[in-house]
This record gives sequence, C-alpha cells and structure tokens, in this order.
Amino acid sequence: MSHFPKPEEGSWTEHYAIDTAPMSYEDSISPEHYELERAAIFERSWLNVGRINHLRNDERRYTQDIVIAEVTVLVTEDAGGKISAFRLPIGEDSSTADLTPVQVDVWEGFIFVNLDDANTNPLRESLGKFAAGLEGFPFGEFTQRFTYRSEVGSNWKLYIDAFAEFYHAPVLHSKQYVSEESQKLQAYGFEALYYDVDGPHGMVSSWGGMAPPKDPSMVKPIERILRSGNFGPWDKPDIPGLADLPTGLNPARHPSWGLDSYVFFPNFMLVMWEPGWFLTYHYWPTAYNRHTFEGTMYMAPPRNATDRLRQEIAAVTFKEFALQDSNTLEATQKMLETRVVSEFPLCDQEILLRHLHTSAQSMVDDYVGTHQPATTSAG
Ligand SMILES: [Fe+2]
Repeated sequence: MSHFPKPEEGSWTEHYAIDTAPMSYEDSISPEHYELERAAIFERSWLNVGRINHLRNDERRYTQDIVIAEVTVLVTEDAGGKISAFRLPIGEDSSTADLTPVQVDVWEGFIFVNLDDANTNPLRESLGKFAAGLEGFPFGEFTQRFTYRSEVGSNWKLYIDAFAEFYHAPVLHSKQYVSEESQKLQAYGFEALYYDVDGPHGMVSSWGGMAPPKDPSMVKPIERILRSGNFGPWDKPDIPGLADLPTGLNPARHPSWGLDSYVFFPNFMLVMWEPGWFLTYHYWPTAYNRHTFEGTMYMAPPRNATDRLRQEIAAVTFKEFALQDSNTLEATQKMLETRVVSEFPLCDQEILLRHLHTSAQSMVDDYVGTHQPATTSAG
C-alpha cells in the first residue's frame, strides 16, 4: 500500500513512460564504454565546476581537474567581475601552461563549463525546468562551506544511484537513529513524495519532519542539545527569501516536506533542505571503475559559536551518512564485474537510477551513431 498519492498509472516509472524491464549494468563495468562516455558525455555536456564562492579568494581563480577529459579547467574572475574559463593539459601549472578558452556560463552563482567549442546549447536551456523552478532561491547568502572529497572504487554512475533514491535510508542508516525510532522507520518503509524527470535530469522530493523532530526523544542526545542533525540546524537562518520559496521546491506541496534532490545530468547533484541550506555532489570519473566524489554543504554564515557548533554537527553527521552510503559501492562494483548476474530489476523508488543510466546510454548511442562510421574489413 502506498503512503503517498501516486500518478494514476500506478507508478512513477510508468507515468513518465520509462521502461520497466530488468536493466543491464554493463555500462558501469566496461572499459570500452567508459572511453565512449568521455567523448559522448563529458566532452559535450555543461559541467558544473563549483560556485562563485570558490572565486572569493585573493587570487580570484581556482582549478578543477576533469580527469576523464584529461584536462584541468582554470576559472578566473577579473576586476570587473567577468568570469572566464580555460583548459590546460591535466597536471600542468596553470600559471605557466598554455591556456585555451572554453565556454563558461553561470546559473544562480553556479559556474559551468562546456569543453565542446562547437556547443550551441545554452546553459539555462540545457538545465531545463528544474533549474528554472529554483531561480530566486537566495543561493548567494550561503557562504559557509564544508567540503568532503574521496576517491571511490566504483563507476561514477553507481554513486549517483546511491544518492538518487532514499528508500535505503531506514535500513542502511539504521544506526543513525535511536533504536525505537529506527525500528519504527524500518517497519514503515520509505516512499518519496514526488518524482519528476526532464530531459536527462531527474528529481525526487522527500518528507522530513526531523528538524525539529516531533518528539525530542526520537533523536540522539547530542542532536537534542545542539538542535541540529542530518537535516541541518533545526532553527532556520535569518535570510530573506527563505520564507518565500521558489515554485519548483516541494512540488507535491506536502506539509511534511523535508528536501528536494536534483540530478543534473551528467554528474552534478543539488540537494535543497527545508531547514534552510543546500548541498552539492560531484562525481568525477577517473576510470571505468573509479571516480572522485565531492560533497559540499553550503550554510548561512554562523552568527556565533553556537551556530558554528550546530553546523559542525550537521557536517559530521552528513559525513557519517555518506560513509555508510559509499561503503557499499566498491562491493557493488566488484559484484557487477563478476557478471554472474547481468540484469537487475529496479523498483519504482529507483526511477532516477534507471533514468540516469538510460540517458547516459542514449547519449553514447547517439555519439556512436554519428561519429563512428561502420568499418568494413577487406577480406
Ligand atoms: Fe544514504
């Protein structure tokens, strides 16, 4: 029985006319496929390389390695505020290397580059309706950053899979809750409020109710004392614009809304939390079976030591959750590589996983169709 209304077709997957057949994960274990993804996806798509916050240093420049494309991107801002981006061979010193300009554009303070000089698809159009629905959120006010980076022994898509659904949470993260609450959550099971897809992008909306919890005994003592936890500090920061959220957030208009999680294809995720902060994830492929993960929390500037401690408990709680999530990835990669099982059923809560793999595959198919003429071998 479902806890929240589903579309009249009976499932989100069918509502968006997405295939329901068992799915191959060959795209995550094939070195040849990884080579195709380089040209078909990463050298042609708009890629987020951070926020303007990264330029707020004395040098007004920073670099981002894009290993799969074998380039380092240098982002700079001149005295007039003009943002530029350049590519250089990966590993070279950006102050002495030959710099080639690349397409760069900024959406709501998020800096994107496109390595394809022939690209004619504007950034805002490429980000689609989810980005349009978030415009006006006071992103620029959230200048306090907490960043984690790790090298993960799995295909980049597998970690997005792990963050593109929430129904694992009551099981995988059971130790994050007090025992009675954990049992209650497991018995209830998780179901999202809403899913949507737009082009290759996807979003899932979830209930919250943990910041603050209905009953303080639902959470651990340190969270009760600090009034903070996985959903962030319980008391909203005093930022104009938070009271009047953009229309894209909480699409189900549910009173218990807690967060919206967006997958911006190919490798950028944005998680918007009801208590007033946001989180970004980046998944940078480094091999068919490896990637670099970056998770960055953006919060309001702390007004005092108490605020700072509240943010710290949210940051370490996030790290603990992420460690639990990533702990499964290398085992998943190894299991897939055995090819003992080659097709997997996906449930309705996994619609965004299927959509990610299908979107990536169709870009590879398009690329192969237009760039690799059939070869004939003279016999
Ligand atoms: Fe998780």
